[in-house]
Amino acid sequence: MKPDKILFTPGPLTTSATVKQAMLRDLGSRDFEFIEKVQFIRTKLLEAGEVSKQEGYETIIMQGSGTFGIESVIASALPVNGHLLVIINGVYGERISKIAAVHHIQQTRLVFNENEIPDLQKVEATLKENPSITHVAVIHCETTTGIINPIDAIGQICAKHGVIYIVDAMSSFGAVPVNIKQSKIDFLISSSNKCIEGVPGFSFIIAKKDKLLSCEPNTRNLSLDLYAQWKGLEGDGQFRFTPPTHSLLAFAQALVELEQEGGVKGRGARYISNYKTLVAGMEQLGFKEYLTEENRGYIITCFHYPEHELFDFKRFYEALNEKGFVIYPGKLSKVNCFRIGNIGRITTSDIQDLLKAIAVTLKETGIALLPA
Ligand SMILES: Cc1ncc(COP(=O)(O)O)c(C=O)c1O
Repeated sequence: MKPDKILFTPGPLTTSATVKQAMLRDLGSRDFEFIEKVQFIRTKLLEAGEVSKQEGYETIIMQGSGTFGIESVIASALPVNGHLLVIINGVYGERISKIAAVHHIQQTRLVFNENEIPDLQKVEATLKENPSITHVAVIHCETTTGIINPIDAIGQICAKHGVIYIVDAMSSFGAVPVNIKQSKIDFLISSSNKCIEGVPGFSFIIAKKDKLLSCEPNTRNLSLDLYAQWKGLEGDGQFRFTPPTHSLLAFAQALVELEQEGGVKGRGARYISNYKTLVAGMEQLGFKEYLTEENRGYIITCFHYPEHELFDFKRFYEALNEKGFVIYPGKLSKVNCFRIGNIGRITTSDIQDLLKAIAVTLKETGIALLPA
């Protein structure tokens, strides 16, 4: 079998051989060993968020991709008369707004440019002007650009105004340190195939228990009912509906490997090295980063299309793909960009190989860029 291409994407990501091996088993969903693995995962995730059950936090695992987890939180946490403030600076903020619209939840949209972090004064002013707002939702790493939003500062504002705080930490959790309690987060969502380096199959939610309990009467749907899902997992340790057993087995191994790497800080350190190697090399090749320095994160990096008449992203993408490297298209509303992920089981040596492949591809297509 040919080796897999290396994924420089926001997920699914390149995973370790040992993570893939861990799922080469058929465990029953009611098997004692499986239930223990699920319990292990739920506890380890709390540790990654620097909280514990004793402090009043719970982990809920939800089948499906990351969006299922977000929809489960929005549709479960907001009561009929709830009012959601959605802070938006990219497509994933927009997605939360869309979820709220689908469920006919009252919302206020606070929209910022894709290259700007949310203005805290505006967040505070919006809460003051709209006392009916009950919940606030924001993205941690807005994967559209890789920008890191100030979730801690927003959390302090939410706590001051007594509103429930929801954070989509999909592409950052496990590699960008977050203390859920200190940042006053009531619901944090991420998924199996991001920085913990598992395979796709489920999302997970870390919730403040008192806020989770208050979800009970809000049910808008059956399969994504966050409270009922938690009740099931707490009751007999089982899922209400068929769990992705194989991805959970892989994830349990991924959590062991996260710990071996030095936890969230250790993982973050490798990704920072990847990021630094990438930008230094891309600058030398003449590419320019989309975000200004103060807003850059190390999860995924957004580059402008080079200003060269011969540059064609589709061709560039395909040429790299043929060489064994998978990059990612852009999703910006106004600017032509592409993205390169620094996450997954990749190292600076993989980044160096990618940079060489990019240099060769530019040469093949007759593009000579001036260093940025
Ligand atoms: C910040 C963020 N939120 C939500 C999602 C959606 O996750 P999924 O595609 O797994 O549904 C993603 C996916 O990359 C993301 O980066």
